[in-house]
Amino acid sequence: MISLSIALGFLTHLTTIYASPAADASLSINASGGKQSIFESAIFLEANINRGDDGGLYAELIYNRAFQENGGTTTGWAGIGNTSLVIDTTNPLSWAIPRSVVPSVPAGSTSAVGLYNTGWFNQLPVTADSIYTASFWARVASGTYPSGANITVGLYSADLATAYATATLDASKLTTGWNEFTVQLKPSKSALTANNVFAIKLPSAASGTAPRVSLTLISLFPPTFNNVKNGLRIDLAQALADLKPRYIRWPGGNDLEGNTIARRFNWTATIGPLRYRPGRQGTWNGYATGGLGLMEVFDWAESIQCKPLLGIYAGYSLDGTSIANTSALDPYIQDVLNEIHFMVDAPGSSTWAKLRASYGRTAPYDLDTIEVGNEDNLGNGPKTYGYRFARFTQAITKEFPSHMFQFIATDSKTVQNAPSVDIHDYVVADTFINYYNRYDSWPRNNTKIYALEYAVLTGDYINPNSTGLWDPGETENRWSLPELRGSVAEFVYHMGFERNGDLVKGAAYAPIFHNTPLPRDELWLPDLISFSSLFYDYKI
Ligand SMILES: *[C@@H]1O[C@H](CO)[C@@H](O)[C@H](O)[C@H]1NC(C)=O
Ligand SMILES: *[C@@H]1O[C@H](CO)[C@@H](O)[C@H](O)[C@H]1NC(C)=O
Ligand SMILES: *[C@@H]1O[C@H](CO)[C@@H](O)[C@H](O)[C@H]1NC(C)=O
Ligand SMILES: *[C@@H]1O[C@H](CO)[C@@H](O)[C@H](O)[C@H]1NC(C)=O
Ligand SMILES: *[C@@H]1O[C@H](CO)[C@@H](O)[C@H](O)[C@H]1NC(C)=O
Ligand SMILES: *[C@@H]1O[C@H](CO)[C@@H](O)[C@H](O)[C@H]1NC(C)=O
Ligand SMILES: *[C@@H]1O[C@H](CO)[C@@H](O)[C@H](O)[C@H]1NC(C)=O
Repeated sequence: MISLSIALGFLTHLTTIYASPAADASLSINASGGKQSIFESAIFLEANINRGDDGGLYAELIYNRAFQENGGTTTGWAGIGNTSLVIDTTNPLSWAIPRSVVPSVPAGSTSAVGLYNTGWFNQLPVTADSIYTASFWARVASGTYPSGANITVGLYSADLATAYATATLDASKLTTGWNEFTVQLKPSKSALTANNVFAIKLPSAASGTAPRVSLTLISLFPPTFNNVKNGLRIDLAQALADLKPRYIRWPGGNDLEGNTIARRFNWTATIGPLRYRPGRQGTWNGYATGGLGLMEVFDWAESIQCKPLLGIYAGYSLDGTSIANTSALDPYIQDVLNEIHFMVDAPGSSTWAKLRASYGRTAPYDLDTIEVGNEDNLGNGPKTYGYRFARFTQAITKEFPSHMFQFIATDSKTVQNAPSVDIHDYVVADTFINYYNRYDSWPRNNTKIYALEYAVLTGDYINPNSTGLWDPGETENRWSLPELRGSVAEFVYHMGFERNGDLVKGAAYAPIFHNTPLPRDELWLPDLISFSSLFYDYKI
């Protein structure tokens, strides 16, 4: 269909130029032998990789907002003046957020009491005329502050000497129970660098006997895409929207699988109020807050006319362990059935639909495509993928008889007659040049193709023993950024998808994001969009 419309446009153009007014020109096109294209461009947002969601697409500016990083420390935070910061676990905000911080100064000290956060990678941009929303939960151990005592929050230069925006909160509202405090900050001028901090100053403790304050879930949002609460960073979300994807594959990817079964992606931990999202140790980089969760991702996708392509955990993790083909698999299947109920049930028709509504969304999601697992062609995956794919898809089909879900398998050898298979290629440039014809002669059987992860990783080193797929053991010379030679090769491969649009249903470059201050040896390189806190076209 695409080539036909291009051809028509071309012919129309020729007619305009060459047809003489007297000529009785006619053109007939026989398109009945054509193949209808099913190709739709996609994006793949791998959770947790390269600090691309937390610290990137997720607009939260505070690093380690609930003291979850590095096993539960104050990393990213510092005390103002002589303030020391102690983690308290004896008064949890919730079962999910067990830690808070208690700032204090030695008795008799006249130092200000408070703390500040330096942002992700010590970067915290401050822009004039943007409205920032600061919030935190706080309590006092005992007693109260007198009326007129204030908590001051603000955006400051890193040395705290320049205040860009401040606001006060009434400290007499602090009680021994947890309360949430929210305030807006509107900087009067922009900071010239990202070398800024967000600070909370508690009422002066000249006597050293002022009530001890505990704080947690300390959050700071700049304006977000479509001004959504707990939303996405505008420039990065817009960059993805500009790719005009029809599907977004989320959450992964290796982060879906987890390094162990216990560390798998847990969808329920990514919905609801932030104080009930425990987060988890991510598969790639640091602690995953779960703040950019299922609803944040798919609501945003919908706002740019993009449908969910849901990756479901299918009982296999990266350490090579699988759930056995016994009743042991049932809870994992049930977890996925719950997830789909949460997404598709008609308004008010189930507890899951009611839960969705209680979180602010009545309408179901337009879910029609489900990817079962991730890269089950690798490691021990193929040994167990046969029964895992069968049991998950059969259970889903039985539970949702009126939904004609498209299932994507991740291994076409173990699952012989899958409706579709997702083929991943991380290769050298020449391989994609050679793949130009790959799908021309591919069997037209029942199995459609997705290419939801592809990229040229390197061009100047080719392992003579390489099978074409990236091997983590290889000593490659990875590109930091995509290079022109790779982009040309990727486009050649992509032309092969579009020319075979009757077979190839979708494709996505991977990974998307690279938060550039992250130490290079912790990164997957190269990536589509490199950014820092200030820029998304940042060059390293
Ligand atoms: C159109 O093309 C199809 C497939 O090649 C052929 O079967 C059919 O006869 C053609 N129709 C006309 C009117 O030429
Ligand atoms: C901070 O602590 C130092 C060392 O104990 C002390 O000399 C100083 O006076 C304190 N500053 C304030 C403002 O209390
Ligand atoms: C607390 O803040 C209020 C409102 O900004 C202000 O009127 C008051 O003077 C402040 N109190 C102190 C002790 O600074
Ligand atoms: C998943 O998250 C839910 C809710 O956040 C929690 O109750 C459950 O224990 C978690 N499951 C696992 C396996 O971590
Ligand atoms: C897995 O278990 C199901 C249900 O007991 C059974 O039908 C199927 O044959 C088993 N598959 C394998 C590969 O063992
Ligand atoms: C369809 O073709 C693909 C690619 O050769 C193959 O992997 C798959 O098993 C085939 N399916 C059937 C049912 O033959
Ligand atoms: C390729 O494999 C051969 C045989 O295992 C080995 O001797 C050689 O070092 C390998 N070359 C590279 C570059 O890894």
